[in-house]
Order: sequence, then C-alpha cells, then structure tokens
Amino acid sequence: MIDEAAAALGAAGRVVVFTCAGISAESGVPTFRDDLTGLWARYDPEQLATPEAFDTDPDLVWGWYEWRRARVRQASPNAGHVAVAAIEARVPGSVVVTQNVDDLHERAGSTAPIHLHGSLFAPRCAASAHPAELPESAAASDGGRIEPPRCTECDALVRPGVVWFGEPLPEAALSAAVDACGDCDVLLTVGTSGVVYPAAALPLIAARAGATVIQINPDRTPLDDVCTFNLRGTAAQLLPALVRSAF
Ligand code: APR
Repeated sequence: MIDEAAAALGAAGRVVVFTCAGISAESGVPTFRDDLTGLWARYDPEQLATPEAFDTDPDLVWGWYEWRRARVRQASPNAGHVAVAAIEARVPGSVVVTQNVDDLHERAGSTAPIHLHGSLFAPRCAASAHPAELPESAAASDGGRIEPPRCTECDALVRPGVVWFGEPLPEAALSAAVDACGDCDVLLTVGTSGVVYPAAALPLIAARAGATVIQINPDRTPLDDVCTFNLRGTAAQLLPALVRSAF
C-alpha cells in the first residue's frame, strides 16, 4: 500500500500535509489522548486548557505551559518532521497545516506551517491580544506555579498563545487550511485521533474535493473510512519511506 500511496504523492501537484500530536511523539513530546502517556490522561484539561482555568488560577496554567515549552525546547525534530520539509521542497506550493503548538516543523526546515491551535512561542496580552515577549524561561517544573508576566502596554496578564477548549480557532489560519484542503490532489494526515473539530474535518474536506487522502497512524481512527490509504505505523518510520518511494 505504501507504494501506491507514494505513487499518488509523487504525481501530485498540490499537497497538504496535516500533522498532529503523533508526529512529535517520537521527539518525546507527549500526545494528548494516549492512554498512559497522553497529557489528558495525566492532567485535567478543565483545570489547565480553558479560559476559565486561566481566570481561576493563572499561575498554575502559566506554569504548566512553561513546563511544556521547556520540554519542547529539549526536544529535536524527528525523521517525520524532516520528511515533511522534504515534501515541501519537492512539491512547490505544498501547505503544512498543524494542530501542534510546538516549533518542530520550523526547526526541521518547514517554511510557514499553519498553526491551527496557536503556538507555545507566541504569548499575548490576555486583554488586548497584543503580542508579548517570551520571558526568560523560568525553572518550570511539572505542576509548578509560575506567575505570568504582565503586558507592557496595559499591564494585564500575558497568556499562552494557544487555542484553549471553548475558544475559536484563528480565523485566517482556519480559512487558509480549509481553502488548501478543498484544492489539493493529496492530503496526508499524520498522527491525529481525529476527534477534535473543526480541525478533524480537514481530511473530509479534501476527500470530498476528490483528493487522495493518506493516513499515517499506528492505530485505527474515525478518519479511516475517509482515507484512501491507511498506513499503520509511526510518522518517523513511514513518512521517510513514503518520501523515498514517491520522489
Ligand atoms: N506516529 C504517528 N501517530 C502516532 C504516533 C507516532 N509516533 N504516536 C501516537 N500516534 C497517534 C495516536 O494513535 C493517536 O491517534 O497520534 C494520535 C494522537 O492523538 P491525540 O493525542 O488525540 O492528539 P491530536 O489528534 O493532535 O489532538 C487534537 O486536541 O487536546 C487537543 O489542542 C489539542 O491539538 C490537540 C487536539
């Protein structure tokens, strides 16, 4: 199946690569819903990833995102991220859309991935959304409280630049992603459980527009029926193999 999928990728003029937590798992960045190691198996999203949580206990929330940021800083892109950058180099006009808030695509050489859920490296003022400086990373510990910095313009608290549950996605990013998915020959979906909307609708949009949809995931997901090819395995294993066979 990988050769057939690679043939479709090799022949494609317009490619969207849609990546999610699974692509960063082999870099040591935990996914969200893995039974044991997933963040939501160990932490309560209600307490850490909602606007209400930040209003209630900003130090706990900021501390937790500082801890996640420190972990991403210690991580390195893996062969999966590198393969995505290779696809971009081989297929001009390719679009990378990610749900991830880490910067591993950029560090692997991807030019302008669309971050649907924001970034750990783009804090902003909680009142005006004015971009804020990233403070020197404090010694973040698992569960440690750290007081958020203050906005230099209005002195309001600075919040993490990520999309929390109950918040809308950044409009420009979402519409650019939807447009790209509605107009591609091949969409690769890598490492998502396919349960968080509206992002999980992107492979469906591409399939409905007639694109070949290739899924890479060690497990079955609700997207299986939407996909032309379901490649069972990890991102760091299968993406380089796909690229080698396609180009
Ligand atoms: N390679 C490929 N896929 C993998 C790997 C790997 N090495 N390891 C795990 N996976 C798969 C899992 O089987 C699972 O289907 O990645 C998926 C990860 O799913 P989630 O943890 O639910 O992550 P994701 O789909 O990105 O979550 C969506 O939910 O919590 C919010 O905002 C957060 O962006 C996130 C969104």
